Amino acid sequence: SGTDLAGVLDGFRILPVLTVPDPGTAGPLADALTAGGARCAEVTFRTPDAAQVLKTMAAHGGLVVGAGTVLTAEQAERAVAAGARFVVSPGYDADVVARCRELGVPVVPGIATATELMRALAAGLDTVKLFPAEPLGGGALLRALAAPFPGVRFVPTGGIGLDRMSDYLAHPAVLAVGGSWMATPGHLERADFAGIRRLTAEAVERSAR
Ligand code: 3PG
Repeated sequence: SGTDLAGVLDGFRILPVLTVPDPGTAGPLADALTAGGARCAEVTFRTPDAAQVLKTMAAHGGLVVGAGTVLTAEQAERAVAAGARFVVSPGYDADVVARCRELGVPVVPGIATATELMRALAAGLDTVKLFPAEPLGGGALLRALAAPFPGVRFVPTGGIGLDRMSDYLAHPAVLAVGGSWMATPGHLERADFAGIRRLTAEAVERSAR
């Protein structure tokens, strides 16, 4: 189903998180990610042209593209208009959740505590972003937090790299792991698309084990 994140990701477990200042790099970036085997990506709304970047990457065709760092209902609207197939937020905002529901697009709020998770559950959601996963306590926190909430799916994100990724993916409640390590602002500044392709391929290959 396209109405929840699991349906949209369709078994793919690595979510590259992209902050892209220059829309001119969106095409080559989509090429590099797909060449590395990625099937989805999250474009953060932290740059002025994020909607244009998202639109270009969505039009590329090889990737399911969502929006990240969505803080307001207005941003959610712009993201979906640009082609976002899912919406991610660093925290829980009732207006963002409500607008995404109206728009029929999966919304994944960030949570850092059991109380925040219970707010998401009360709103009828069952998939949350655990953010910022590494500073909060990593795999140990994930395992402890997931235990009382059977049925909840997590997308840990924040400070995760290739070496830490597998600890999360080993947990059955983890739908996917997100992170910027495969395509950092530094890669984009240097136009290092070969590096992006290589890091993406490493993550994709390791996630399939
Ligand atoms: C996000 O918005 O999800 C984070 O910035 C991604 O986290 P990372 O940059 O620590 O991977």
